[in-house]
Parts: sequence; C-alpha cells; structure tokens
Amino acid sequence: MRYYPVFIDLAGQRAVVLGGGRIATEKVASLLEAGAKVTVIASMLSEAIERLVADGSVDAIRRDYLPGDLAGARLVIDASDDVAINRQSWEEAETSGILINVVDRPAQCRFIAPAIVRRDPLLIAISTSGESPFLASSMRARLERWIGREWGPFTTLVGRIRRELRERGVPLAEQTRIYRELTRSDVRDLLRADRAVEAGVRAAAIASSDLNHRGRVALVGAGPGDAALITVKARELLADADYVLHDALISPDTLALCGPDVRLERVGKRGGQEGALQDDITARLIELARAGHFVVRLKGGDPFVFGRGGEELAQLALAGIDVIAVPGVSAAFAAPESVGVPVTMRGLASSVAITTAQGGGSPARLEALARAADTLVVLMAREGLGEVTAALARAVGATRPAVLVSQATLPDQRSVSGPLSDIAWLADREGIPAPATLIVGDVVAASPFLAAVHDQLGEVAL
Ligand SMILES: C[S@@+](CC[C@H](N)C(=O)[O-])C[C@H]1O[C@@H](n2cnc3c(N)ncnc32)[C@H](O)[C@@H]1O
Repeated sequence: MRYYPVFIDLAGQRAVVLGGGRIATEKVASLLEAGAKVTVIASMLSEAIERLVADGSVDAIRRDYLPGDLAGARLVIDASDDVAINRQSWEEAETSGILINVVDRPAQCRFIAPAIVRRDPLLIAISTSGESPFLASSMRARLERWIGREWGPFTTLVGRIRRELRERGVPLAEQTRIYRELTRSDVRDLLRADRAVEAGVRAAAIASSDLNHRGRVALVGAGPGDAALITVKARELLADADYVLHDALISPDTLALCGPDVRLERVGKRGGQEGALQDDITARLIELARAGHFVVRLKGGDPFVFGRGGEELAQLALAGIDVIAVPGVSAAFAAPESVGVPVTMRGLASSVAITTAQGGGSPARLEALARAADTLVVLMAREGLGEVTAALARAVGATRPAVLVSQATLPDQRSVSGPLSDIAWLADREGIPAPATLIVGDVVAASPFLAAVHDQLGEVAL
C-alpha cells in the first residue's frame, strides 16, 4: 500500500469520533489540538470526554452510532470497537466521500494517522504504511532525540525571515543561499541556550548583510571507517557543506552522510597511488572558501593524527580563512579497541606512544619509543612491516605480544596476533591488506577477543 501524505487543515471543521473509551479520548484530544469541532457519538463516555463536554469543548450524542450521523463531517474516527458499527460507519463515509479511519481495521481506513514529532510549527509525520506501529514509534523516539526543541523557534524565525525577503523582492536564488547560511549558522545553538534575542539579531544579520558571503573551512575527522563512529557535529557539517574534499579511504557509507547538493572531490593518496599534492589541496580549500563556499575537508580518523591537519589549519589561518577543526576517532585508538585491546590498563600499561612506520624517522627512533612506552601503536604499518617488527623486537624482545589490525571497524576487519617476531610472516600468510595498525605491548595479551579471533583464522594464539 502506498499512501499519499498530507497534513489536513481541520480548523473549524466537523470531526466525528465514534466510541467513548481510551482510544477515542486520545483521538478527541488530537483533533481538538488541530482546532476541529468535535462530536463524540457513544453510549458511554470516558471521564476526560465528559469534562470536555461539560466545558463546551466537545459535543456529545449519548447513544451508539446510527447511519446518517456522519452528515457534514470532514473526517471520522471510528474507535467504537464494534464490528457492526465499523461496517456501517465505513459504508456511510465511503458513500459520502468522508475521510474515515476505523481503528485497528486497515481495510476500513481511508487515511491512517502517522506518529508525530512536534516542534511547532515544524511537524514531522512518520508512517510505516501500517506495517508496524512499534517501528513508527521507535523512529519517533530517535527523531525526538535528534531534532531538539530549538527547531520550533528556529522554524518560526526562518518563516519570519522568508516573509521579509519576499516582501523585499529578494531573488529566489539569493533567498535559498540565505536559508542555507541560516541553517548552518549558530542560530540554533543560541536558541537551544535560550538566547532568543541574540539568535534573532544573528539571523537578521545573516539575512541582510554580506557577512554570509564569507566562506569557511572545517577540517573534520571521519573516524576509522564505520560511518556510525563519526561525531554528531561532523554529521551536521557534512549535511550543510557546499563542498567536501575527502581522503581516498573515506568509506562510501560515511560519504552518504553528505547533503544531496554537496559537491564531492576526492583528494589525497591511496597506497602508492598519487593524488593531489598537499599544496594543491590547500590551494583548492582556499580558492573555494574565498569564493564564499562552506568546505569540509574530511579526513580519516582524526585530522591531527598523521593527517596533515595541522599544516592545513596553519596555512588556512595564514590565508585569513575562517577555519575550525573537528576531532574524529583515530585509528590509533579504534584499531586496538576493535580487537579488545585496551591501550592502557591498570597494572599493565600506563603510557602509550603513537607513531608511524613511514617517513617518521629511523629504526633507532622507533626502538627508543618502544622502550619508553608501555604500549606502542604504529600507524601505516603494513608497508615495511618486516623491518618495523624486527626493529621493535630488538628493542623490547621478540616475544612481546603484538597485533596487526586491518580495516578496523569495517566489515572487512581482519587481524593477526602473536609474538612480535611472528607478525610480519603471519600478515603475509593471511594476506592482511593496508590500512593496518600495529599494536605492541602486554595489553595485547589482555584482550578477551583475540583468542577467538585466532581460532577462527587459524592463527598463532598468544
Ligand atoms: C595517514 S594515516 C591517518 C591516520 C588518521 N588520521 C587517524 O587518526 O586514524 C593512515 C593510517 O591510519 C591507520 N588506519 C586508518 N584507518 C584504519 C583502519 N580502519 N584500520 C586500521 N588502521 C587504520 C593505518 O595505519 C593507516 O596506514
């Protein structure tokens, strides 16, 4: 069944409710909220309906429904729970072209009532086309958490600005740009903090000045791969961006969080494949921001952990571009966590060092780090893994527990674990691909998951 969704204006319209029990009472309340003139027809009325009748909010006919009762009604809800009444009311409504909903009888419903998230004047209706009221209400609970109270006053504010822009004859394209700017501004934050006056001033400034022509850049961490691990703030920025310049490794599910009109540009390197050079990327960010765009530079993990985010931030700031950085979950933490390895643990490890196997310095530096920290996390570990593990084994011993985790948090996640000296050949034997992160330290042996992983993969158990 496919429904045509509408919101019906019932203000001052006759609506009839059949039945006087709990469900009828709820229906009466929501019809009154919509401004309908409600008549209840039932031999027994709930106390709540009796009160509404007593104060004149509702008319009552104190007997069961009779054919002809629906005359003049726009809409009928039959909550009588009486099969004979259901059949007759359905027939009368159908003959007269009146919209009817017979509660719990989908075949006798000309309309169905959605679950509602109310942020007046914003109204979100949810329907599963009658498949599962439970799912509809669980979806409502999700949206209730996601769409904060501030969306109500924000909608009112945007509506007021819209009327002003139309009166001033502002061209539609310019109006749209202003609405986008309002949506991604801090106006909602101000409303959420009950600073309505400041929110109004800020919104008016956006609608009238050319302050909104200034572009800006957000350096955003996408997390290690699983799209669910991105921050709420990053999600909102992706939804609002004009351009997203992203690393090659960002997962399609994460990119799917971008707004429908966003322009995606893939930049950066993947394996040995050279992409745009760093200077070109920064130049492109500056160019787009200067043209007035809001640009998200989306990087794997955290932008400031071997992500060149620090350089981009400095160069953008130097160029006078408005720039912010939004943290992400780094693979340095997600990779060990995804195989149950705590990088610190009471009595076992109280320090952790994060480094890279590529371009970060000599084997001597790696060895020194491995000696200095209880847990060592090595990023970009797949290429040259043999040399890296050999250097580390010299420093902390060939039997130090280690795990190499590839594609952490993604469906293709894989790992090999064992004594440090075995990791490189195990990785080759199992064909573990990049990107991969190596974790070395006693904490690896503390993982409750790795034994099971070894059994599954037929690996060397710790
Ligand atoms: C250029 S560094 C970027 C690190 C990133 N900024 C971060 O905070 O995760 C890329 C390295 O991160 C690690 N990495 C990224 N995603 C990973 C994943 N899903 N699983 C394991 N390691 C990952 C690998 O070591 C990879 O070679």
